[in-house]
Amino acid sequence: MQQEYPRLGFIGAGNMAGSLIAGLVADGVDPTLIEVSDVNKAALDNLKERHRVSTHEDNLQVAAVADVLILAVKPQRLKTVISEMAPSLRARRPLIISIAAGMTSDTLARWIGGNPAIVRTMPNTPAMVQCGATGLFARVGVTDQQRSTAESILRAVGLTVWVDQEMTLDAVTALSGSGPAYFFLLMEAMEDAGVALGLERHTARLLAQQTALGAGRMAIESEDPPKELRRKVTSPGGTTEQAIARFEAGGFAPLVDQALKAAAARAKELSQQLGD
Ligand SMILES: NC(=O)c1ccc[n+]([C@@H]2O[C@H](COP(=O)([O-])OP(=O)(O)OC[C@H]3O[C@@H](n4cnc5c(N)ncnc54)[C@H](OP(=O)(O)O)[C@@H]3O)[C@@H](O)[C@H]2O)c1
Repeated sequence: MQQEYPRLGFIGAGNMAGSLIAGLVADGVDPTLIEVSDVNKAALDNLKERHRVSTHEDNLQVAAVADVLILAVKPQRLKTVISEMAPSLRARRPLIISIAAGMTSDTLARWIGGNPAIVRTMPNTPAMVQCGATGLFARVGVTDQQRSTAESILRAVGLTVWVDQEMTLDAVTALSGSGPAYFFLLMEAMEDAGVALGLERHTARLLAQQTALGAGRMAIESEDPPKELRRKVTSPGGTTEQAIARFEAGGFAPLVDQALKAAAARAKELSQQLGD
């Protein structure tokens, strides 16, 4: 017998919830199985109009029906949001999926009470174009079926990877969570350098954007690791070799290493502050 698709509840109808819902509906999930609540009526109306999901201004109405509850409000709002729903969550025991940055599953479990099933995730902004990358961590007590449900929801907006230790999500935050900004920074610098070399700004931007897209697709579609792809486009005595030598002389790889370590340390610090 085919298993019924679970009823999904979203608390928060902002950017990330909107991206996930768009991905799920595009994947063929029936929008009548999606319930969303938010304090912002305009955000709810927008989602209802775009995807025909059911909307509510009271979080409790969503908590009362959801089999899977996706917490998609800012981390600072979570304590209030959970406090009002906690009795219902303890009684109904839905799978809880948190996308809130930095909020540990221990803190969420403490606020909810009764040892809830929680999957904590760290998505990134390209989820908005269904090209995201999400790290997932399952707390003790999450069943295989619940893991697979959580994975299928996040896969609607891109790649998913599981981590065994919750603290590894700080590394995911440093790499893919903050990562889109690193690529934007490189694109920005390449655009400026192209302008300095005589290109029109619009042309330099288009070339930098398309090159980033092309390199990303090649890296994903090729069997070769990035190092080998780089070797293949670096002819001895050629132009790329000159540029790479300058990057290396400027300490590019150690700089990236330091940048990610700083991001991971900040993620840990923010997590501790949120839990206090
Ligand atoms: N955006 C990202 O790149 C990204 C990446 C990884 C993780 N995340 C996480 O995803 C979560 C959502 O981020 P977002 O960018 O989607 O935020 P967002 O666009 O601000 O959406 C949050 C929504 O929640 C609403 N809200 C506030 N208080 C509420 C309450 N008590 N009950 C119900 N709804 C309430 C907000 O309404 P108002 O606008 O009226 O306050 C807003 O519509 C955050 O926890 C963030 O850490 C985001």
